[in-house]
Amino acid sequence: MVGVLGLAGLGAMVSSCASEEASGPPVTGIAAEGQQLFKSNGCAACHSVDGSDGVGPTMKGLLGSPVELQSDETVTADEAYIRTSIVNPGQDKVAGYSAAMPARDLTPNEVDALVAYISELR
Ligand code: HEC
Repeated sequence: MVGVLGLAGLGAMVSSCASEEASGPPVTGIAAEGQQLFKSNGCAACHSVDGSDGVGPTMKGLLGSPVELQSDETVTADEAYIRTSIVNPGQDKVAGYSAAMPARDLTPNEVDALVAYISELR
């Protein structure tokens, strides 16, 4: 009986972790700065961080995942790819999205912070 209760407790813990993940995992340092920039630059209006699709693709799990481009090429989203997508949105267009991502006037530090933040959204 005690064993069963213990398992139920564990289940509750696991599910509370999962719901925390849905609102974005806690981030620190430069990534936290990126999280602020992600909101203040309007990125969040088009990109979710919880896996749901929006005007643009979700940022969750982007790092290391394959991305199909409109050019029919499939690339792996590494940090350099994420950086290019932010700095030069017209370059690697993701297949299946008709909206155009606007370029933002960001300093190199701001781009670093955004890349760090997005890279943490596993
Ligand atoms: C008006 C909507 C819009 C805004 C605002 C926007 N994006 Fe995008 N973004 C898109 C669309 C649509 C795509 C996919 C088409 C493309 O590649 O251009 C995209 C693609 C991306 C990609 C590549 C995603 C992938 O799955 O390969 C990244 C990274 C990205 N955006 C980051 C950002 C960041 C960071 C900001 C804020 C500085 C931002 N976006 C603002 C619409 C937007």
